[in-house]
Amino acid sequence: MAELSGNYEIRRFPAASEGKDGYAEAATWIRAVAFGFHESRRTPEHVAKSLATYEADGRILTGVYQTGEVAPSSLPADVPVATFATLRKSLNIGFGRTLESQLVTAVTVRTSHRRRGLLRRMMGEDLRLAREDGIAMAALTASEGTIYGRFGFGVASFERQVNVDTTARFSVRHQPTGSVEIADPKVLLELAPEIFGRVHRLTPGSIGRQDWYRQLASGSLGREGKEDPAIKVALHYSADGTVDGYVSYKFLGWDTEPYTVEVVDLVAAGNSAYLELWQFLGAIDLVERVSWAEAPLDDPLAWALADPRCIVSSDSRDMLWLRILDAAKALEARHYPADGHLVLEVNDPLGLTAGTFAVNVQGGHAAVERLPESAEADLSLDISALSSIYLGAVCPVTLTAAGRIVENTPGSALKARQLFAVERSTHCLTHF
Ligand SMILES: CC(C)(COP(=O)(O)OP(=O)(O)OC[C@H]1O[C@@H](n2cnc3c(N)ncnc32)[C@H](O)[C@@H]1OP(=O)(O)O)[C@@H](O)C(=O)NCCC(=O)NCCS
Repeated sequence: MAELSGNYEIRRFPAASEGKDGYAEAATWIRAVAFGFHESRRTPEHVAKSLATYEADGRILTGVYQTGEVAPSSLPADVPVATFATLRKSLNIGFGRTLESQLVTAVTVRTSHRRRGLLRRMMGEDLRLAREDGIAMAALTASEGTIYGRFGFGVASFERQVNVDTTARFSVRHQPTGSVEIADPKVLLELAPEIFGRVHRLTPGSIGRQDWYRQLASGSLGREGKEDPAIKVALHYSADGTVDGYVSYKFLGWDTEPYTVEVVDLVAAGNSAYLELWQFLGAIDLVERVSWAEAPLDDPLAWALADPRCIVSSDSRDMLWLRILDAAKALEARHYPADGHLVLEVNDPLGLTAGTFAVNVQGGHAAVERLPESAEADLSLDISALSSIYLGAVCPVTLTAAGRIVENTPGSALKARQLFAVERSTHCLTHF
């Protein structure tokens, strides 16, 4: 418990499912989060289901509470005025390597208590504690682009909305090697984590999923907080009969034109599985359009389509934001596809990992040495910029052009680009 100036205290406690100690406090906390995101008041069932998944994830809930008198007839003191939650999952940092990361979520501050430093306090404390606990990376997804750069977070992956025309012109140039079959959505309660685990190991930028995803994909717990009977599921079988992909989807109804299927979750552990699931989606009768809000920016589908213009509209947006908490540890954790030497001068607005670091890569492994502050650096950059280039999805040459990286040694931004490249396009299928 920590005191804050201005009659507040911070409390941290684990998420507890129904019947466990701490359930009432967690239930009040979750309602405050829903309020912060402008949701309707959650039903008791929705709260119970959400907290069961939070407990499974080992979430730690943080609340800021008023300690003095609360205004008469206003919400009581046990309702937090600010919320924040964390869970630990692995991040794929390229070439099959993973790094345990502190995921930050559920950030809200009640309107009547905003701009008093509550977010800054929760974030600063949490990141410091995570670093002290040996965690080298923090991650979040942002509702607004302006909030998190000041805390050292940088955009590290992107996604886009695609609307794919699946009328007669839709054709994927691919000879199937496996097959697709419809399944009862509930099979995903068992299968989804295993299939996702395989995708996670293959995909740079992927974050381990929270328990809720298997509930979502199987229709057990929709975004509205209850069973979603509209969910349908198709499984992909590889040539040897192993299930190596699935798509969870729903038809948006006869009032939506063109008739549309919306992808709820598409998880494919391999190139054939991905293209064959798209062949399946494109073959659904009576449907003219398939939409997917979480498609990759660099999408093999666009290159496999006979007519790439079937992807009729798209808009791209930032997805994963990363924040390196321990530069030496994070840099040594990566595998590098090229050898080389770079000296990085890293600034950190929270003072967690500022310093000048010599990165010496040989045989794909980096030895990182901390140099005296007076040492000359090839690149000078903020920790948010280093976090952005760390997964290879953001180009250091572009960040130099934007003034976010200062290139003291000509050519070193290009060198950084080569060093930080990953084996395939970064994509994160986990929102949190
Ligand atoms: C975003 C939010 C959590 C900020 O909380 P807060 O307690 O008011 O923030 P703080 O007072 O600690 O402000 C910290 C800094 O961030 C800035 N800031 C906070 N929210 C900002 C926003 N939306 N846009 C731009 N700057 C913002 C503040 O100006 C302050 O800057 P400074 O420290 O350089 O002076 C709060 O406005 C909120 O609950 N918004 C709705 C829910 C939401 O968007 N959550 C984010 C989910 S990803």
